[in-house]
Amino acid sequence: MEQYIIRGGNPLAGEVEISGAKNAALGILAAAIMTDETVLIENLPDVRDINVLLEAMESIGVKVERITRHAVMMNSAQIGDVSVDYEYIKRIRASYYLIGALLGKYKKAVVPLPGGCNIGSRPIDLHIKGFKALGAKVEIRNGFIFANAEHLHGSHIFLDTVSVGATINIMMAASMAEGYTIIENCAREPHVVDVANFLNSMGANIKGAGTDVIRIRGVQKFHKTEYSVIPDQIEAGTFMFAAAATRGDIMVKNVIPKHLEATSAKLLEIGCEVEEFDNAVRVVASKRLCSTNVKTLPYPGYPTDMQPQIGVTLALAKGTSIVTESIFENRFKYMDELARMGADVRVEGNTAIITGVERLTGARVSAPDLRAGAALVIAALAADGITVVDDIVYIQRGYECFDEKLRSLGAEIEMINSEKEAQKFRLRCG
Ligand code: EPZ
Repeated sequence: MEQYIIRGGNPLAGEVEISGAKNAALGILAAAIMTDETVLIENLPDVRDINVLLEAMESIGVKVERITRHAVMMNSAQIGDVSVDYEYIKRIRASYYLIGALLGKYKKAVVPLPGGCNIGSRPIDLHIKGFKALGAKVEIRNGFIFANAEHLHGSHIFLDTVSVGATINIMMAASMAEGYTIIENCAREPHVVDVANFLNSMGANIKGAGTDVIRIRGVQKFHKTEYSVIPDQIEAGTFMFAAAATRGDIMVKNVIPKHLEATSAKLLEIGCEVEEFDNAVRVVASKRLCSTNVKTLPYPGYPTDMQPQIGVTLALAKGTSIVTESIFENRFKYMDELARMGADVRVEGNTAIITGVERLTGARVSAPDLRAGAALVIAALAADGITVVDDIVYIQRGYECFDEKLRSLGAEIEMINSEKEAQKFRLRCG
């Protein structure tokens, strides 16, 4: 199994280019099957989740042509099968976006129920509530979701919980339902807006994405389009915290600073300098940081996907911080790993109490999930000595060339496959 081996202690400095947003691209790729014409999608991140979803789409008959590493041409006129194989949903939950897309276009879909994952149970009851409100019959049988409708009609839907996935999935189905749909209490994340903009570029009539009320007038058919995915604000924030934790100076390029406002505000609060440019943000941490309190909230609040990154950074800050995770019920698993590196942390329910220490020490740790894995790499970069991170397959799901990008900033990090390679790294880095 591949691992990262890291020798910490170097302040990271330099420039890093951010890739396309994984969570926008997943919704956009699914939505692209809703037209029979050819679609060109650019600025896709070359990460495992995207590549698995593309395989799932090919398995139901979508023609996918890789134009470049970050661009695909797709045509869905020949979709023969509206049932997605379990193999795919097991590997990537977001295959469930194919339900909204297939239901909208073909009025039927058969997709395996996504399981939970390491950060929580991840129910999809709100998705199903929305599909039913649009007139679909939805049944769960043998681990599959069977959805079908004579025809879909507009509806007034109120989401009990703010949900990115439910907002995107229902928006897709409603975009080809007859009549007018209002979705209330919507998620407002930039990737929700990006999927809405993509659908509108194919001829959909969606207004209000980015606010908590989305209004949709259904259309019969979509046409071709060319579209470029927005930059990934979570990848960007991860590098911003890498600068903070290692007392570095990083220019994070190809970002939309507005999407990073909650992250930038917290970095300023703990003592970093943050400078915004048109499509870049520079983070400088020249002294020991100070503690703060943070609670994760739906956008534009502080993102849950940035919670592990600030958690590991606060482990080295002066003072005691309180981190409250209000979105998922099990997103502090990385704290046990961090404690093995010398952090002084205590988890009580959905709250972590972090008392900053002067230094962390390298250890053998394992990535519990995607964002926590990236955060443990940040901790390793800031720690004294050598850290080995296991289960980096989680990190590779959402970060393109993560170790290469970190090396370009001065990090001593290698991806290794064997103890022999680890020994070589230790000899070389001492
Ligand atoms: C998306 O997950 C992201 N994944 C997650 O990013 C992100 O953490 C999350 O949104 C919150 O921003 C993708 O976009 C592929 P939710 P999603 O529905 O849509 C509850 C990453 O690191 N809920 O907004 O699954 C749910 O349990 C990943 O890239 C219901 O109760 O999240 C949670 O408590 C991790 N019923 C809350 O809503 C439902 O039907 C928010 O979840 C749906 C959700």
